Amino acid sequence: MEKAVLPRHIGIIMDGNGRWAKKRLLPRTAGHIEGAKAFRKCLRHCVDLGIECVTFYAFSTENWKRPKDEVNAIMKLFSEYLDEGLDMYEENIVMRFIGDRTPLSDSLKAKMEKLERETDGNNGTTCCLAVNYGGRDDILHAVKTLAAQGGDISDITEDSISSNLYTSGLPDVDLLIRPSGEQRISNFLIWQAAYAEYVFMDVLWPDFSEKDLDSAIAVFAGRNRRFGGL
Ligand code: IPE
Ligand code: IPE
Ligand code: MG
Repeated sequence: MEKAVLPRHIGIIMDGNGRWAKKRLLPRTAGHIEGAKAFRKCLRHCVDLGIECVTFYAFSTENWKRPKDEVNAIMKLFSEYLDEGLDMYEENIVMRFIGDRTPLSDSLKAKMEKLERETDGNNGTTCCLAVNYGGRDDILHAVKTLAAQGGDISDITEDSISSNLYTSGLPDVDLLIRPSGEQRISNFLIWQAAYAEYVFMDVLWPDFSEKDLDSAIAVFAGRNRRFGGL
């Protein structure tokens, strides 16, 4: 694929794990385990394609509403995956976590920080994992940060808000993919995806393959982006 038609930043809502498990009469947790494998595969493919940045929605600020058992299982899965960090290091990935870490366990927070530190000097694909992330929370957090600086109101600009979001320094989202058949954004990168191209797909996340990513990118490449112009 030509570089010119590749999105710089891809956002992916990893949805459909529960339904994948239900179809197989398995516990929802089995869907999350399989979903984590799909994440790994998809990230590798982004690296192979030379994608600059990919953000995966792993846990929303609303997902705490789920049964405690399921939330705990998801947190455990994060923890196990972060232990495998070395692999990402080898692939020259820059690892970043976005979202409010406050309610996460100390051990998970420590693992996140370690991985960010260890991959900081890399210059390959940036992999952002959105954990306890909400688009509204992201904007609120940025505005509070700016307000706390006590500057002039006229100093608050679109750029100053952008650079205080969790995604600070990353390009806006070009392509936003949501598998699982749902057609909504569910509080994902609402500011950053203002002019993203949306691709909704019927595949459930654990079944999401390299081919699915290729086909979403092909759809993106065929779109005519105007950004309000002609
Ligand atoms: C996405 O899959 C994973 C998280 C939100 C943590 P779901 O668990 O939402 O799967 P469905 O939508 O119930 O199938
Ligand atoms: C969005 O999926 C959040 C993640 C994939 C992490 P949800 O399953 O939580 O979204 P809704 O509830 O269907 O909107
Ligand atoms: Mg869901």
